[in-house]
Amino acid sequence: MPDRDRRRLLIDCDPGHDDAVAIVAAAAFAEVVGIVTVAGNVPLDRTTHNALVMRDLIGLDTPVHSGCSRPLVAPPRHAGFVHGESGLDGAELPEPTTPLDGTDGVEFIIDTCRSSEGLWLVPTGPLTNIGTAFRRAPDLPDRVAGVSLMGGGSFGNRSAIAEFNIWADPEAAAIVFDAFDPSTPGSAAGPLIMAGLDVTHQFQVTPERIEMTRAVPGQLAAALAGLFDFFTGTYLKRHDEGALWGAALHDPLAVLAVTHPDLFDHVDRHVVVETRGEHTAGMTVIDERRLLERSDPNCRVLTHVDADAAFAVILDAITQFST
Ligand code: BDR
Ligand code: CA
Repeated sequence: MPDRDRRRLLIDCDPGHDDAVAIVAAAAFAEVVGIVTVAGNVPLDRTTHNALVMRDLIGLDTPVHSGCSRPLVAPPRHAGFVHGESGLDGAELPEPTTPLDGTDGVEFIIDTCRSSEGLWLVPTGPLTNIGTAFRRAPDLPDRVAGVSLMGGGSFGNRSAIAEFNIWADPEAAAIVFDAFDPSTPGSAAGPLIMAGLDVTHQFQVTPERIEMTRAVPGQLAAALAGLFDFFTGTYLKRHDEGALWGAALHDPLAVLAVTHPDLFDHVDRHVVVETRGEHTAGMTVIDERRLLERSDPNCRVLTHVDADAAFAVILDAITQFST
C-alpha cells in the first residue's frame, strides 16, 4: 500500500493473543506511530513485555510505552484463563531485545495526538489509558481522526451482558463513549467505531484458518499458529460443544475497520456504558429504538464482517513479515 494511503494509528493494547494479531495487521497496513500498553488480559508488566516481543518479531520501528497498571475505579481483574499466565501462552517466544521507550503512556498519547493531526486511536484492551488521556486533555477527542475500539456488543463474555474490555474498566469506557456524544459540549468530530462481540464472534480462528497460518513460512507465522492453537483451545473448553469453531479473533477487527472499512457493515447508534448496575456493569447499552425521541448516534456499531476476506487480509499481513 503506498505510504500516502496508510492511515496513522496509535495502538493501545493488552496483548493477549488477538492483540498480537492486531499489532501485525496495523504494522502491515498502516503507519503505527506508537504502541501503548494497559493492564487487562494480564498485568501491565506482562502486556508490556508481550508488546515488546511483538515489536521485535515483526521488526517494527515504533515506540512502545507502558500505561496504566489498574482500572480507574474497578479492581484489577485479568483473563489468564483465556490467554494463559504469560498472556501469550502457546508459542516459544524470544525475550525482548529492544528497550521500553517510556512508562507514561497516557502522556505519550496526549503528546502524540497534539503533535500530529489526523491520528486514529485503536484501543484493543480496557480503555483506562484513553479515558485518562481524554480526562486530562479534553481537547484530545476533537483532535483525533477517530477511535476504533474492540469492546462491547449486545451480549457479554465476562457477564451475561458485559464484554471483557468494557467490564474491566467501565468508568474509563464511559468517558470515551461520552466524548463522542453529540450532546456533550465540544464532542469529537471523528467517528467512534465499536467492534463488539456481535461482529468479532463472526471472525473465528477455525482449524482451517490455523492451518493456513501454519503454511506461511517464517518465525512469525509459526508463532501465531501456536498462539491460535492455545487460544482456540481455551475458547472451545469454555463454551458449549458446537457453539464455536475456534477462538474469536476480536482485536484485529478494530484495526481493519480503519484500514479495510469495506469488509464491514455497520449501523449508527447511540451507545452508553453502564457503570453501576449490579448485573449490568460494563454493558454497552445500544439504543435500537425506532422512536424519534432517541438520542443522536455517537457510535458506528459494526454489525457484519466478511470473515473469509478479513482472514485473507490477516494472512497477507503475516506474509509481509515472513522471513
Ligand atoms: C477482548 O478481551 C480480551 O480477552 C481480548 O484480547 C479482546 O480484546 C474480548 O472480549
Ligand atoms: Ca485485547
